[in-house]
This record gives sequence, C-alpha cells and structure tokens, in this order.
Amino acid sequence: MYIGNNKDNNDNFNNMTHSTNNIYTVFDKIKDRHAKEIYLKQQAKVIWFTGLSGSGKTTLASLLEKKLFELNYFCQILDGDNVRSGINKNLKFTEADRLENIRRIAEVSKLFMNCGIILICAFISPTNEMRNMAKEIIGEGDFLEVFVDTPLEICEQRDPKGLYKKARTGEIKNFTGISSPFEVPDKPFLVVKNDNPDVDKTVRTMLLKILPEIRFDPTLNI
Ligand code: ADX
Repeated sequence: MYIGNNKDNNDNFNNMTHSTNNIYTVFDKIKDRHAKEIYLKQQAKVIWFTGLSGSGKTTLASLLEKKLFELNYFCQILDGDNVRSGINKNLKFTEADRLENIRRIAEVSKLFMNCGIILICAFISPTNEMRNMAKEIIGEGDFLEVFVDTPLEICEQRDPKGLYKKARTGEIKNFTGISSPFEVPDKPFLVVKNDNPDVDKTVRTMLLKILPEIRFDPTLNI
C-alpha cells in the first residue's frame, strides 16, 4: 500500500483498484487502451475461432491476419499449437487442463487488447463453459466468436497431423470429436463453413462482418 502526501502519487493511488485479499495493485487501463486505439487507428477486439481440430481455424486465422495487415490493422495471432508449446506447455487435454488453457489465453488476450491490439485466437475451446469463461474475462462486447463449422468427417479425412488416426486406435486419449465432446456454439458472432474450396470468398465474408467492429471510431478521440 502507498503512503505519502505528494499530489501526483495520491492521484496514482486514486487510480488504483484495491482488493482486500490481494496485495497487488491493478491500474485502471481504460484510458491507456483508448489512447492506444487512437494511435493504432483501430478498435481492439478478440476474434475467437472455435471448431474441431483440422477444421481450418489456423488457416483462416492466418489469412484473416494477412488481409487485415494489408488494410493497416495491427493484429496478434494466438493458436493452440504455438501457445501449447510455450506458456501452456504444462497443460494436457483433460477437461480441467483445457479450461485452464482457455483461461490463460483469455487473460493474455485481454492484456494485448488493452494495448489496442486486435487478437485473432484459434482454439478448439470445445465447450460452452470454456467459451463463456473466455467471453466473461475478455468482456462480451469485445469477444467476437467465429465458429468454423467443418463436419467431423471432413476434418477426419483431412487429418493433417495424423491425430484422428491415433485417436481412433486409442493412442491419443480425450481427442475432441472422437473421445471428447465438442459443443456447437449457441449464438456465435459468425459461422464459417470451411468446406468451400473458394477460401478467398470465405475470407471476404469474414472481413465484411469483422471490419465494422474494428474500424477506427473518431469519436474515441473526444
Ligand atoms: S483446447 O481444447 O484446449 O482448446 P487447443 O486448441 O489448445 O485445444 O489445442 C488443439 C490442438 O492440439 C489440436 O489442433 C491438435 O493439434 C492438438 N491435440 C493434441 N491432443 C489433442 C486432443 N486430445 N484433442 C484435441 N486436440 C489435440
């Protein structure tokens, strides 16, 4: 706790939120986020792709990032494979570990978002409970859920990493869609059918829906 009588320090003190059982101070970042959104000329959001393994989440996320970058939007991708080989490498695929995986990702996304950055997250996030938790952490208005609706049969045919084959023989346990559930989202912001060979058309459809959400709003300046 800060004790002092300097005016600046007292102002800082007043801008902190204190929790009785937490010795750390959390600064109110809202002003900073808006300042950074103005600097970056965009509105920070979390675009959250959910869907089965092999549904095309990472592919679509990368194509979307490329397009947004060309349009001068500043984004960061987080996806299952890169996050699970780093910050979440101690987590497995039990329900509890998946929940913790999503919780950490949502918290990290929030930090990025407070820097004015647009997040593109691609995680199976198989249950409503997990996605609702992410939405709660990130904030409902900032969470754009995109369901990549690719049927299990197609994902299994594609099987880019050979994981479905291993799941069928029991070599991999708790595999989503085979030995672990996937719940279709209730009311996603957008549903993308990724069985269309014209992937550019799919990216254009996503862009049309997402651009109004992230476009710079000059009234933020007021
Ligand atoms: S989540 O369920 O916790 O959201 P996440 O998106 O991080 O999953 O990771 C999914 C990736 O991990 C898959 O694309 C696949 O490559 C790999 N993986 C390894 N084991 C499993 C499993 N049991 N179930 C699903 N994906 C798995």
